[in-house]
Amino acid sequence: MELSNKRILLIISGGIAAYKSLDLIRRLRERGALVRPVMTKAAQEFITPLAVGALSASHVYTDLFSREDEQDVGHIRLARDTDLVVVAPASADLMAKMANGLADDLASAVLLATDRPVLIAPAMNPKMWEAPPTRRNVATLKADGIHFIGPMAGEMAERNEAGVGRMAEPLEIVKAITALLAPGDRPLAGKTAIVTSGPTHEPIDPVRYIANRSSGRQGHAIAAALARLGAEVTLVSGPVTIPDPQGVSTVHVERAEEMRDAVVSRLPADIAVMVAAVADWRVASSAGHKIKKQPGEAPPPLQLAENPDILKTVGHHENRPRIVVGFAAETQDVVANGSSKLERKGADMIVANDVSPETGVMGGTRNRVKIISGGGVDEWPDLDKDEVAERLAALIAQKLVG
Ligand SMILES: Cc1cc2nc3c(=O)[nH]c(=O)nc-3n(C[C@H](O)[C@H](O)[C@H](O)COP(=O)(O)O)c2cc1C
Repeated sequence: MELSNKRILLIISGGIAAYKSLDLIRRLRERGALVRPVMTKAAQEFITPLAVGALSASHVYTDLFSREDEQDVGHIRLARDTDLVVVAPASADLMAKMANGLADDLASAVLLATDRPVLIAPAMNPKMWEAPPTRRNVATLKADGIHFIGPMAGEMAERNEAGVGRMAEPLEIVKAITALLAPGDRPLAGKTAIVTSGPTHEPIDPVRYIANRSSGRQGHAIAAALARLGAEVTLVSGPVTIPDPQGVSTVHVERAEEMRDAVVSRLPADIAVMVAAVADWRVASSAGHKIKKQPGEAPPPLQLAENPDILKTVGHHENRPRIVVGFAAETQDVVANGSSKLERKGADMIVANDVSPETGVMGGTRNRVKIISGGGVDEWPDLDKDEVAERLAALIAQKLVG
């Protein structure tokens, strides 16, 4: 079991997502971890210490000034007798305390006293997540070496609220914990990778642009999967609403030409995976001011110019990476179009997917891909985009290091 006898101190703070930490406890114990829970006072408004204690098969620690637990300065022992401290969910409040070194309850005192790695899974309303104080606290915590998983984009518990703020799913948190505690094989250690992701935005004028429906989920997942295998990954991302992945250095761009420049300036690299849905065309000369609608006048013509072909540029570059993978988003003749791309673009592998609206691939969470290489076509089943990423990263590692 991958987390056999690993000691995890799980701090549960007060948020709706606390119910998911019950499942997290189960998942961790299934993998052999020993879970010791700490609950804040607010957490106990959402789930009971009884449920947490039953699932973890452990005493649940709730009070800093507990006569029993503090006989031997228990909060310091809790902080040290563990392999990893996990905070899930991490409330905005607890993050603020951590960033400022407050220690007025058991959870915050343990977090201040610990010398072990700390992983936090924030969960809050998107407005709380975007609020300037939270932004400042996130930056401070990252600078302090705190590991983050999420938050993710999606629907909130509150009606009609969506955005970034959902706690990562328990299995995602387990993956992050495993990567920290049992890194196992890192076949891509010492290798560098460049991944592109998301759409590009091609300006028409300062306020309007041409775009597509790419969410960045697949490219971001691939960047994270390569990093988990030990690669040093640069992700060049177009405009997306999902958070930067863990353990990856992310560069944000808008236009195809910016994306090309960001990619080329990072060569040489060992691996390139070009996932971004780069716009084929840009507006030949975008206006420097907002184009005004004139009564009685015909709509302005849009003259398009061809954008750089980033995959082809990388595939034929003098510093061509040893493995170049391209994505082919097609709506017709997926294999034929993917195969013809392989040679034209100088790629080793094309991941072809059908992005017809009925497949729900573009913007969705699942993908059904065909891997086209010199060796033929391998058809993968319908998978979660994270699973596609894991498999692809493993395949790349196998091709690169055997
Ligand atoms: C119904 C309800 C839901 C809440 N959900 C969250 C949440 O998801 N994230 C968050 O940061 N705070 C949330 N709060 C606010 C926290 O519970 C509050 O800031 C509390 O003081 C946090 O305490 P703690 O950090 O000690 O656990 C919620 C409050 C209520 C009443």
